[in-house]
Amino acid sequence: MKVLGLVSSPRRLGNSELAVREILRCLPDEWEKRMIRLSDMNLIACKACYSCLAREDKSCILKDDMDFILRHMLRADKIVIAAPCYILGAHIGVQRLIDRLMPITENSLRFADKQCALVISYGLPGWEGLAREEMLKIPHIFGMEFAGAVTLEATLPGDSIRGRNLRRLQSLAEVLAERRPAETQESEEGVLLCPYCRSRLLTIKPDRTWRCVLCDVNGLVAVGEEGLALEKNPLCENRFSAERRIAHERRLQEAKQQFIERRAEIKLLQEDYADGDWLRPPGT
Ligand SMILES: Cc1cc2nc3c(=O)[nH]c(=O)nc-3n(C[C@H](O)[C@H](O)[C@H](O)COP(=O)(O)O)c2cc1C
Repeated sequence: MKVLGLVSSPRRLGNSELAVREILRCLPDEWEKRMIRLSDMNLIACKACYSCLAREDKSCILKDDMDFILRHMLRADKIVIAAPCYILGAHIGVQRLIDRLMPITENSLRFADKQCALVISYGLPGWEGLAREEMLKIPHIFGMEFAGAVTLEATLPGDSIRGRNLRRLQSLAEVLAERRPAETQESEEGVLLCPYCRSRLLTIKPDRTWRCVLCDVNGLVAVGEEGLALEKNPLCENRFSAERRIAHERRLQEAKQQFIERRAEIKLLQEDYADGDWLRPPGT
């Protein structure tokens, strides 16, 4: 087996890196274990050129280290991705990676046999924000099997591999080592999670219907003796399913066609708003 650890933190031997190293250490010695530090990679931000939609192989035209990362992800059987929470969201390293995944959505079958685990470190109680949910997109966009996510309160470097955090990492490693099924992975502090993608980002309406913002699954909030539970609507399909991916790609291609047809009209509209002075730093 081949394991790849992706670390999205500028801190060497910080909480994300230590957590990944701990998981890798728990996996069988004979497995190949490699790591990539996302902050060492040249990852250009998506330029919204939509060239990937036009290309036969759906590849991105930006020439940077994205191909290197994808090549190593494709080689791996198991992928562990770790990022710290920065200002209530996931660190920019993973955000850059996520924004470049548009060409992947159609090629996700190539990643379907891989298992992915996530580690999120945050510094202060109650300040974990949206980092976990932002990271959760990754396994689902790639179509990888989701092994589980651990959100670790880790104020000082090293806190991610102490006490209860250490046990949670070791338990996630057990899932990756296939010594335990993913369903037995500890849930997020008893919080109600989307039954499909495990996200906490749910919209709940007064009529007791709920919808997961991430995977678009919906259902009813059931009230039982043990409290509230989320019942999934058996008719709804999550947005990462093969059927909905194909429909999504069709919609994108239609939008591209509309853009080509209406390009002149759009240009006229934009030109009407083109006046105005941009402020720029001196010398640029
Ligand atoms: C710029 C910046 C923003 C941060 N924002 C948050 C935050 O919103 N919530 C939080 O709990 N911790 C925040 N932290 C703390 C880190 O998430 C925490 O220390 C984490 O364990 C660092 O992981 P690392 O060592 O892998 O970088 C922030 C740290 C930095 C440098």
